[in-house]
Formats: sequence, structure tokens, C-alpha cells
Amino acid sequence: MTQKVLVTGGAGYIGSHVARQLVEAGYEVVVFDNLSTGHAWAVLSAELIVGDLADPGALDRVFSEHDFQAVLHFAAHIVVPESVADPLKYYSNNTRNTLNLLTAMDRHGVDRIVFSSTAAVYGMPEQEMLTEDMPLAPINPYGASKMMSERMIMDLAAASSLRYTILRYFNVAGADPEARLGQATPEATHLIKVACECATGARDGMSVFGTDYGTRDGTCIRDYIHVEDLASAHVRALEYMNEGGGSEVLNCGYGRGFTVREVIDVVKRISGVNFPVEENGRRAGDPEALMADNQRIRRVLDWQPAYDDLETIVSTALKWERYWQDHQGRL
Ligand SMILES: NC(=O)c1ccc[n+]([C@@H]2O[C@H](COP(=O)([O-])OP(=O)(O)OC[C@H]3O[C@@H](n4cnc5c(N)ncnc54)[C@H](O)[C@@H]3O)[C@@H](O)[C@H]2O)c1
Repeated sequence: MTQKVLVTGGAGYIGSHVARQLVEAGYEVVVFDNLSTGHAWAVLSAELIVGDLADPGALDRVFSEHDFQAVLHFAAHIVVPESVADPLKYYSNNTRNTLNLLTAMDRHGVDRIVFSSTAAVYGMPEQEMLTEDMPLAPINPYGASKMMSERMIMDLAAASSLRYTILRYFNVAGADPEARLGQATPEATHLIKVACECATGARDGMSVFGTDYGTRDGTCIRDYIHVEDLASAHVRALEYMNEGGGSEVLNCGYGRGFTVREVIDVVKRISGVNFPVEENGRRAGDPEALMADNQRIRRVLDWQPAYDDLETIVSTALKWERYWQDHQGRL
């Protein structure tokens, strides 16, 4: 029998890629999104309900009208500096609205959730390679709002039949290779997105923050994961729970990293555009290097990434960026 799943935030960057893969895998998908940063055009082959997680009545109606077997919960605010300036916005939308969602799931007997968490829950760790068992010590309200959501999910699971897969994403980048979908978030702060905007002329130039780190070229190292591989991890997580698998917390990354300079060089080489890059001092709260130990997700979900290659990540992101710049406002 076809399984029906609810995807909150499915009109956003990551949720839209996951919703598309779920439809391709045979799931019936209902997207619930307030379109605050998402786009209706990004919902391909799924039903879109425009609504806000802050509205418990709207959630109750959605759960009453549909017989969901599981929920994938992406909806959130995601800009770290904004979370520092306006913490309550983050605790409201990320933490309290997750509570609203869990309340509706509990009331309507939906007992499986895949939750979008983040490496930001680890804070400023000493190690470069992060395992899921490390202590959680977020250093900004965004990370804390996600940590608190994780905790609510775990506590409800301990007290009910709920099972969860908490996926802690590292740096998500790239786009659907066919450029039907990609990152269209306004004022995105992600390195690869920003560099691609420079390459397409949407920005005049960009900054590098910190060139005196103890890394191979002095700039920070991050673990960039292609959004298609991240999406396939969600499909696998759902299958795993459908097969009776228990609750898990899993890092999502490739377990290797690239420096900021390496990323910018690849974007310049692939685009053929030598855009201006300004070197600035370090930003507060930027750890030197962060990479995901991904042994657990590979073992538990038998997850096999297919796009673990910086050139592929950049070329799909660039292809999308060109398409998006040409079609913006007309999609
Ligand atoms: N992009 C990354 O690199 C990254 C890294 C780690 C974790 N994450 C997590 O992944 C998830 C998705 O991020 P994204 O990059 O796709 O962001 P995004 O902004 O593109 O998507 C978020 C979606 O949620 C919707 N939304 C927000 N608040 C809502 C509400 N109250 N009710 C209904 N819909 C609402 C937005 O309209 C948007 O479509 C987030 O939970 C984020 O914390 C992202």
C-alpha cells in the first residue's frame, strides 16, 4: 500500500529535493509550508498545503484530513547571525513549532519522524572529525533551538511509540543535476551558493573570513554534502523505520573537508569567472575544521553517497544558479 507522508518545509531547498525523491520512490507526499523562504514552484508532483506550524488548528486539520504514516520535518529558520540578533524568532519557529508538530503527531497517532538537525548542535568542538556521541554544546540560538527540538523528540519517543531518525547535516550544497530544483533562499549565506552568485554576476564579490587558521591554506575546512545524497539518506531513513528499525541519531556528511579557498578556486575554474574575493578577519564562533564521522549512517542505513565530489557539487550548484538567475520571478 502506498505510504502517505507529511513533509514540513517541503517548498524549501532541502525539503523540495527530498519530496521529489520520495515521490520517485513511490510515496504519496503532502507538503506543509508557509512559503516564508520556500517557493510553490519547488513542490514537484506533491500536494502543497500553505500553512504555518505556529497554527495548531491548521496542523490539526491537516492531520485529520490525511492518514500519514510518517513526518519529515524540515521547516525552520536557518540563519545563524539572525538567530543571535533575534533568538526568540528561532526558539518560536524552530523549537515551539516543533512542539506544535509533535503534539499533532501524538494526538493523531503518527509514530515516525525524520528530523532535520545540524552540526551546529556540536558547537566549537576540539576534534575535527565529529561523532554522534560527542557532547552537544551549541554556541548560538540556532544550534540551541535544534538541540532542544532533538531533546523533545527523544523524550516523546521514550514515553510513546514514536520512533525517530535525527539527521545532523553538515554543509549542504549542490542542486538537482537536471536543475529542476536548487537553492533559491533569499540572502543565503552558504559559501558555495554565495560563490555561485558571484560567478553568475548576481553579486559583485565575496569575503573570506579568516586566513590564519592552522589549516593547509589558512582558511576554514568544512564537510560539503550534495543535497541529492542528503535526500537519499532521508528516503533510506524512512525505509529503515518502515522495516522496523529503531530510533537513531546520524551525522550526514562525507567525512572529508575542503577549505574556503579550495571551494572558491573550484567555482572560479568551473565557471571561468575570476570574481573579486576580499580577505577579512575571523568571524566569532567559526571553528577551524568540522567534518562528519559518517560510519554510523553508512552502517545503519546502508547509505551510499553518489555525488561525493566537489566538482560535481559545484557544477550542479552553478547550473542551477544560472537557471535561477534567468528565470527568477517567472517560475
Ligand atoms: N542548508 C543547510 O546547509 C542546512 C544545514 C543543517 C541543517 N539544515 C536544516 O535543514 C532544514 C531545511 O533547510 P533549508 O536549507 O532547506 O532551508 P529553507 O529556508 O530553504 O527551507 C525551510 C522551509 O521551511 C518553511 N518554513 C519555515 N518556517 C515555517 C513554518 N513556521 N511553517 C511552515 N513552513 C515553514 C520555509 O518556507 C521553507 O520552505 C532546516 O531545518 C535547517 O535547520 C540546513
